[in-house]
Amino acid sequence: VLTGDSAGADLPWYQRRGQFSGKLFDSHCRHEGEEVAVVAAETPLQAFDAIRAIEVEYEVLPFVVDHNKALDPASPKVQDAGNMVGEPSVNARGDVEQGFAEAEVIVEHTFNTPYEIHAPMEPHGSVAKWDGNRLTIWDTTQGVYSVQQGVAQALGLPLANVRVIGHYMGGGFGAKLEVGKYTVYAALLAKKTGRPVKIFLPREDCMLVTGNRPGNTISIKVGATSDGLLRAIDYESIGSTGAYTYSAGTGSMAAYLYACDNVRIKDTTVYINAGKARPMRAPGFPQCAWVLEQAMDELARKLDIDPIELRLKNLPDSLQARSGIPFTSNHLAECLQKGAAEFGWFEARKRPSRDGHLRRGLGVAACFWGYAGGPPSTVIVKLYADGSVNLNMGASDIGCGTKTWAAMIVAEELGVAVDQIQIEHADTATTQYATSSGGSKTVPSDSPAVRAAAFAVKQRLLQMAADQLEVEVDDLELSNLLIKSRSDAEKNVKVTDLTELGRQGVAIGTGYREPNPEGKATFPFAAQFCEVEVNTRTGEIRLLRFLGAHDSGRVLNRLTFDNQVFGGIVMGVGFGMTEDRVLDRQTGKMTNANLHDYKIPTMMDMALEHSCLPMDIPDTEFNTTGTKGLGEPATIPTAAAIANAVADAIGIRVTDTPLNPTQLAQLIAKKEA
Ligand code: MOS
Repeated sequence: VLTGDSAGADLPWYQRRGQFSGKLFDSHCRHEGEEVAVVAAETPLQAFDAIRAIEVEYEVLPFVVDHNKALDPASPKVQDAGNMVGEPSVNARGDVEQGFAEAEVIVEHTFNTPYEIHAPMEPHGSVAKWDGNRLTIWDTTQGVYSVQQGVAQALGLPLANVRVIGHYMGGGFGAKLEVGKYTVYAALLAKKTGRPVKIFLPREDCMLVTGNRPGNTISIKVGATSDGLLRAIDYESIGSTGAYTYSAGTGSMAAYLYACDNVRIKDTTVYINAGKARPMRAPGFPQCAWVLEQAMDELARKLDIDPIELRLKNLPDSLQARSGIPFTSNHLAECLQKGAAEFGWFEARKRPSRDGHLRRGLGVAACFWGYAGGPPSTVIVKLYADGSVNLNMGASDIGCGTKTWAAMIVAEELGVAVDQIQIEHADTATTQYATSSGGSKTVPSDSPAVRAAAFAVKQRLLQMAADQLEVEVDDLELSNLLIKSRSDAEKNVKVTDLTELGRQGVAIGTGYREPNPEGKATFPFAAQFCEVEVNTRTGEIRLLRFLGAHDSGRVLNRLTFDNQVFGGIVMGVGFGMTEDRVLDRQTGKMTNANLHDYKIPTMMDMALEHSCLPMDIPDTEFNTTGTKGLGEPATIPTAAAIANAVADAIGIRVTDTPLNPTQLAQLIAKKEA
């Protein structure tokens, strides 16, 4: 048994490098589920019995669980210094009052978004094992090097003594970017028992302590001229990261998605007595899309301009920060135009939308994603004398097909079959350095390094062949493990017959991720379209059709690309329609910390028809594979597109999630009354 009183367990806790986040065991628990003791046993049931046998004496303190009440002077302080997480962040340009004075149409609303739980299928957990002063950890993580750093910092070990292996994991969505306390508990218990220790959190604990997307209350006011040009945006967001420090900011997309001279964005983050937030799939952006893209839709309705036209009128030609930052590529206009054509938007708008008590409606929403990826990433490719290949990279495959595209790139560059390639990955002891798989940046960060490593092997083989055949290296080409002269087909050699390769045993290539172009914005863009049918008697919403039109640079693999988009849409449906962490104001406890009451969408909630339209335009200025990120833009505009389609169907603007039948039936009844 370990508690905060155990020798060696009284440690400070840093969630991220240098960011103090309480203690490993804190006798001042600030939210339900905060850890007070851990137990190791021979079997899980024995461990559960032991946990139940522990009596904890709690002194119940006053608490606050509503972010809108956190700053009331009457509310209890979650942290000694008060309930503000830093100062509010303000991002402003131009003169907002002047902009509204020039505007002919103004839209103003306050919105609420849910506290969303990552809820990956695989719970959080680790296995820890010591050999002397060397610790090996098998972790379900998005980044083995991030866990290595966190564990080394917590236990005061050299990085080199901590080996983290993360070969397989069942979903993370940002909850598994950072080290968890459970990993350090496993290490301490393994040390104490002298045996390997496995710890996996039950589902309820995952929901209480392993992170969430901050919920937000957001007010927006936008003003435009009668021909639909934006003159001013005023945006104010407040949200909570729970009892510990992280950011609940949402405003950056509102500042930059559309061209507007006069903008004021204010983001406030507060503490409440709840589990700490963690990054969750496009942190801040789905919240912002829910607000900004509904406001744009409302503006289009007021102006009687098609919502696609309105967006096209207001696209910026650079990122409106400082004096303007050019994009390496921005195909949002194509996403809107080609997406509309593929979806049959304009034809569908002409169809009758009423069938008895059923109403059909169409919605669109757009986004960018403000994170790009870049160095560092190192990859090693080894080609053996028999022509088989090892690809060695540190990146984790978090379910997006990382190993698939990596093998495809090596296969293409070396002219070998994909099934000739074996992959070593995500092991701090044996693979190369990579940053965590997150931020939609694994492809644009790591694929250029993979390509560079394969290219280096190819150059090595061509040089061996040039020496052996006595021809110029530039005259040689490689395909299907055969190197031949372009000018004289007689001159050729199989890779497996290269004398020098036989002598060396292996040809090795190292690839590095080169820096991004300076002074450029390298963002992905998207527009999503949906058609819904609303039952005006019950408030039920059927999603009929969904299309994701995405500018994520070059498509490496169409199957994994489409699956990212569909997965993003599933998560967006959850964000908008079904998911919400409910904290009881009487007890401060989460009332739905299980997968029955916390409703993740199932196949039954998905649209009847899903489709995906990649623009597939390589961004060759950004990196050597021409790729941009996809995982996060795939979920940003989804919920807003649904809300806009509902507004189109029944003329009701739904400002608060969840957009479910309970709420909608009430709104319909109120409107009819
Ligand atoms: Mo993502 S929130 O960077 O896993």
